[in-house]
Amino acid sequence: MEKKKVIFDCDIGCDDAVALAALLMSDNVDVIAVTTVFGNRPVDNTTDNALRLLSFMYRDIPVYRGCNTPMVRTLTRGRDLNTRMERIRMVIDGKEITIHEATLPLPESTRREEDRHACSYLIETLMNSEEKLDVCATGPLTNIAMALRLEPRIAEKIGTLYIMGGGLYIGNRTPVAEANFYDDPEAAEIVLTSGIEIVLAPIEGCHSGATYSQQDIDEIDSVGTPLAHFLAEELRNFIKRCQILFAPDENSCCIYDYAAVIPLIAPDAVRDIRREICRVDFYGGMADGQLVVDRRGFDSDHSSVQIIYELDSEKVHENLLSMLKRNR
Ligand code: RIB
Ligand code: CA
Repeated sequence: MEKKKVIFDCDIGCDDAVALAALLMSDNVDVIAVTTVFGNRPVDNTTDNALRLLSFMYRDIPVYRGCNTPMVRTLTRGRDLNTRMERIRMVIDGKEITIHEATLPLPESTRREEDRHACSYLIETLMNSEEKLDVCATGPLTNIAMALRLEPRIAEKIGTLYIMGGGLYIGNRTPVAEANFYDDPEAAEIVLTSGIEIVLAPIEGCHSGATYSQQDIDEIDSVGTPLAHFLAEELRNFIKRCQILFAPDENSCCIYDYAAVIPLIAPDAVRDIRREICRVDFYGGMADGQLVVDRRGFDSDHSSVQIIYELDSEKVHENLLSMLKRNR
């Protein structure tokens, strides 16, 4: 089967790193570029992390730096004041602890990012491509939304857009909003209503298939390669940071962004996926950034968004392990 050409848009952090490694190991996918965006960390860090991981995996794939601020949300003063925010940063004895580290513990890359902005790259590449290209977006959707605003016709040039974002019944950054959508709600609304064919992995769909215990992580490590050990250590340290920041008894973690690329690299691991009408609240109140799914039943067949409700955990875990073993 011919490999699908994919652009990976991310805010590398720990779970984005697993998703990128999985895409690079997959037989189904040819990652043609990585675009970076703010989110887990400022875009300086997410760009540097993308370069570090690509060099660590000996891949000479171009990286394009993207947006470092949301489209408009920071223009509204006090927009963050009225929510019960998840604590994603603390300073303990003068040391900053954040849920995602600024720099992946990998050697600095000798490469630099390309000169073009990620949005320019997305528009020029999609508009000049003879075939539709797939895109995976695992951070705030700012780059995709800005590119759509500049050149709406890219919507017809994207085959499928795979997104990690939103929560069906729960949030993480706030009681109702997931981090990627919360960081740029307007971008999420623009993208989800753009008409692009979207496969969306919300918090619950990710939890169903990509939750990893310490034992699961040890199994990854047992593959014995430098990549397997790096990923395992990343996940162990992610759990440790979660224990410090908000859940002392936490002993597992969800690899959200890896779950989001599963429909592309291991579609047989998708158990329950439904086409539904999706919107995103961007009015700055308690529900700011919330994914709103209209389940009243009418019009859902006209939606361009498919939501992953459940993944097959065994197949998801097996997929990563078998790829790591194949890439020994
Ligand atoms: O809510 C989880 C999402 O927010 C993931 O993409 C994670 O990397 C963070 O960006
Ligand atoms: Ca991410």
